[in-house]
Amino acid sequence: MLDINTIEQFDKIATPFYYYDMDLLRKTVDHAAEMAEKYGIKIHYAVKANVERRLLEYISGKGFGADCVSGNEVLHAYDCGFPADKIVYAGVGKSDKEIYNALKTGIEAFNCESLQEIYVINEMAHVHGLKANVSVRINPDIDAHTHKYVTTGLYENKFGISQHEFDKLIDILKKSGHINFIGLHFHIGSQITRVEEVFALECQRVNDIVAYFERNGLKVNNINLGGGLGVDYDDPDENAIPDFETWFRTISENIVRREDQMVHVEPGRSLVAQCATLISRVLFVKSGETKNFLIMDAGMNDLIRPALYGAYHKIENLSASQRTFYPTHQAYDIVGPVCESSDVWGAGRLLPLSVRGDLMAIRSTGAYGQVMASRYNMKDLAPSVFSDDLDSAPAVVDYFEK
Ligand code: LLP
Repeated sequence: MLDINTIEQFDKIATPFYYYDMDLLRKTVDHAAEMAEKYGIKIHYAVKANVERRLLEYISGKGFGADCVSGNEVLHAYDCGFPADKIVYAGVGKSDKEIYNALKTGIEAFNCESLQEIYVINEMAHVHGLKANVSVRINPDIDAHTHKYVTTGLYENKFGISQHEFDKLIDILKKSGHINFIGLHFHIGSQITRVEEVFALECQRVNDIVAYFERNGLKVNNINLGGGLGVDYDDPDENAIPDFETWFRTISENIVRREDQMVHVEPGRSLVAQCATLISRVLFVKSGETKNFLIMDAGMNDLIRPALYGAYHKIENLSASQRTFYPTHQAYDIVGPVCESSDVWGAGRLLPLSVRGDLMAIRSTGAYGQVMASRYNMKDLAPSVFSDDLDSAPAVVDYFEK
């Protein structure tokens, strides 16, 4: 929960904006680093969750690697301090330009997702007299028990190479002279909350697949288990720092590894989700035929998760929390300004009586928030405001002043 001083400062800042609690970011990253060390696991931060430079610089400074899914993410990660040999690059559709740039950057590994991609990378490396490190993303056909749109490890999903192509794949890897096979990559989904059950199952399946590759003459030095650790959207204050220990312990207890095999993970959401809050203002309160609407200045253009996945984000009225009057609560449909009926932050949410100008907090928005924002309806992009640099935030303008 934000303290009174911070809320007072927010009153001077133009809304909407993403507020980053840098202290929480550091605590989360430090804790993940400590747990990774304890369990002998290497972390690659999944850059797609949030590309804000200040966050990336802190995370790269901790010695983490980066997991990227586009050529621009590779270049950006490199620019924000991740050494090339700690950058891995996944994604089902890498363009020639993206492959070329990553090859030249000298990244740690391409996480290849199809046989054809391996051909193309081998060919390009050959032409340019280079050797590419390749890890192969496998589709293990495991249900992550999460939202359909963020499930990635089932045969119905486009990701990874599935079992029926294993023999062909092994053959290609052996014959491709311009690639170094370095390991196997998996990622079965995001916002996984049944951590012990799902990751134990993933590890058991991974053990079988690794053994199959090794029996067939390919040494698997790196096992990358992807990201997916869920965060508590319902109670971000109680569980501000995700349970990295349970995740890493589950992996350690279930993965079969030799001394010379490195286990990697790629958390995105769990490192950054809780450190940001989207701050918005109530523009209008409208009483509809059957409900009350709170119309905010932040919308689905700023954060698409509710509209796209029906995702829940906790919403608080910061101004009302400072008042001693207005004790009553009321149910509101909290909506954004965008001309779409799906631009709804939450339906029937119980809040203290809210009025025009109230500051509202949309919690847990550090992951897949700003990165998925758009300029739909020609809206401006909400800027980042940092807890340790509130003075450089854009000032609110009073248009009633003559
Ligand atoms: N590694 C790979 C290969 C991935 O595809 C992803 C996420 C991650 C790591 C990081 O997963 P995380 O630890 O953040 O769960 N926009 C959606 C989430 C999409 C996740 C896509 N892949 C959302 O807002 O929920």
